[in-house]
This record gives sequence, structure tokens and C-alpha cells, in this order.
Amino acid sequence: MEIASRETPFQNVQSFDTEFAEKIPVSKPAMPRAADVLPYLEQIDESGWYSNFGPLVRAFESRLAERFRSPTEVVTIANGTIALALVLQALGLPKGALCAAPSWTFVATAHAIRLAGLTPWFVDVEPMHGALTPDVLLACLDEAPGPVVGVIPVAVMGQPIEAEAWRAFELQTGIKVVIDAAAGFDAVDQAPVPVMVSLHATKALGVGEGAFVATEDPELARNLRSITNFGFQVDRTSHQEATNAKLSEYGAAVGLAALDKWATTRLRYFMAAKLMRIAFSNLPDVKLQGGWGVDWISSTCIIRLPKGTLEVIEADLAARHIDTRRWWGSGCHRAPAFAGAPTTNLTVTEDLADSILGIPFFADIGRDQINSIVEALDVALKRFDQASPGAKQ
Ligand SMILES: Cc1ncc(COP(=O)(O)O)c(C=O)c1O
Repeated sequence: MEIASRETPFQNVQSFDTEFAEKIPVSKPAMPRAADVLPYLEQIDESGWYSNFGPLVRAFESRLAERFRSPTEVVTIANGTIALALVLQALGLPKGALCAAPSWTFVATAHAIRLAGLTPWFVDVEPMHGALTPDVLLACLDEAPGPVVGVIPVAVMGQPIEAEAWRAFELQTGIKVVIDAAAGFDAVDQAPVPVMVSLHATKALGVGEGAFVATEDPELARNLRSITNFGFQVDRTSHQEATNAKLSEYGAAVGLAALDKWATTRLRYFMAAKLMRIAFSNLPDVKLQGGWGVDWISSTCIIRLPKGTLEVIEADLAARHIDTRRWWGSGCHRAPAFAGAPTTNLTVTEDLADSILGIPFFADIGRDQINSIVEALDVALKRFDQASPGAKQ
């Protein structure tokens, strides 16, 4: 059953009876089965420890930390949005100041900046990968409408991000960097600046709701943990502004079961992505993300369409019961919640928003489903060409 929709979680419920049978969902979580989680649930029964940094959370964090190239601490948190906000808070950034972020991201990035008491300043991205890079930010820093104290670069739809380059940027400018790699579980393996990975059910490794922050700075990890637990440190004295944002032992149980299966899940995603890549080689006008399914994997398939074709393609695929999603809408700056937030010129962002589409992808996607998607795209693109010769770029 498709439960992947984030922005409109109940969107498919109404149409379930009439349409669901034939629909190809845009995403299907690859969560562990109940039987895989059961041994961990039994450990919870045994220990009687349900939250507050219990043995399963600690085991989950240390297994996650082992995935990093250098000594790294991992702090699990209730979800990725809160995790980003709490890292910004742990860095002690002055309230009201500007925190840069690409507008080309999921709105959670910008909500986190506001939650941390900062002001989002939306900047553009480079056109090739759709990412904010240190060079892009350095080139527009002079345009900032005030002092910039932080930046959240985003690992675009799970693709790798240059964490070391961002560390160099931080040292050069004094601007604190927190990487939002919400969908980057597979690609992230170093944290010279803090990196957040979401563990939402829609992500490659999910626990339902959850996230972790990886950092090579033990002091930051200690502070962050305290902020997730009422500002407590060694005793029950509250030392700072804080909240409750811990992952429970039940969340960790699912996470441990997901990690046990990760090698297999990853392989299944890779094999599905390879089938997609082969089928898409017949559509030279449609681009997949660079390296996706070859060097790294995510739980979504993102395509870049020729300019001007997005709406036609969406409509044609919908008519054939192929679900699509503009995962990042039109960019944060166009969301009513962020109307009036300061921005730079966002030409590249607006081009991307008008040409990027999420199409169905999941670990057990079948060849027939892939062929239906490719055929639908092919027909729609040809139809567009016939209706508006020369219009697509
Ligand atoms: C780029 C980005 N940042 C942050 C988040 C928020 O993560 P969570 O859903 O765990 O709050 C998401 C979620 O999809 C995301 O895509």
C-alpha cells in the first residue's frame, strides 16, 4: 500500500477502492517486517527500558557511527526537521540572524531555520546537480541583507555532498554549516560538519519517524543530546533552553532491524535502479540523477525533463495511473509559509522546479511497471513535440 506521500498524507485514501488497484505508486517504503523487529522488541520486554537513551538507542547509534570514515558520534532524534533545528540551536547561533539555505529543498529545511529562531535567506544553486555549493554561496554573500551566521546545504534528493569543502568554507568564513542529508543515508560517510540524515519511512533506511545527526565534534554531540532531553546533562538539572526530541527504544528496535537488512535492501534498490537506468537509455531527453543506482542509491527516482514539458508529462502519467510527485514543490521561496523571506536571484531554482519530477521507484518495482513508465514518458514527449515543434529545450 502506498503510504509514502508526505505533503498530502491522506491523498490516496479516498481513491483507494476505485483507482488503487492499477496505480503505480510514486514510492513504497522498504521497512523491516514485524518478524525482523520482534527479537528487539523482546529485548525491550526483558530490559523494561523504553526511552531515555536505553540500550537499543545506544546500540543503534554506535552501529550508525561505524558507517563513518573517521571517528564520529551519532545522536538519534525524533525526526529530521527537529534535528536540524536543534543542531542550529546547539551551535548557539544568535536569534534573528540569517541562515542561508537553498530554496531548492523540501520545506522542512526552512521550517527548521525558523524553529531555531533564525531567518531563512534563500539562495540559488548550481545548475548541474541542483546543489548549493560553497562557491555559489561565496559569490552571493555580499548580497545578504544582514549578517549570515549559518548555512544549511542540502544533499539533493540523497546525492553525495562535499562535506570537506563545506568544512573549509566554515573555517574560511566563520559561518556555521549544518548539512541536510535527509535522503542521504547511503551517500553520507563523513561528518566534518554536522550532518542530519532522516529516518522517515520514505527514506532508504527508515524507522517510521526519526533522524540522526552525525558529528566529529564530541562536545557538540553532548550538547545536542542534552537539548533533546530537557537540557539535562549528568543529573536532572536543566542547563539550557531545550525540548524532548529523543528516539524511543521502539524506534531504535526498528532501526536495528532495518540495519540488519540494509545490505540486502541496498542491493534490491540498486538492482531496481539499474533496471530503470537501462529502460531510460531509450529516452535520451530525460535525465536521471548523476551516479544514482551506480555509485549511490536513494528511495526515490528523480528525472529532469526537457524545459516546458513538465505539466504535460504529469497529466499524461496521471491519466495512465502512474503517480508522480514534485517532491520539493516549486522551491521554498514560493511556499506561502515563506512569502517575504529574503532571497537572491533564483533563476536556476525556478528552472529546476519547472523541470524536475519524482516518478515511481521502490525496491520491488517490476519490469512491466518500469516499461509502462518509460512508454508513457515517450508518448507524452512525442505528443508534446508534435503539438509544439521546437518548443522543448
Ligand atoms: C531535504 C529534507 N530536509 C529535511 C527533511 C525532514 O525530515 P523529517 O521528515 O525526518 O522531519 C526532509 C524530509 O523528507 C527532506 O527531504
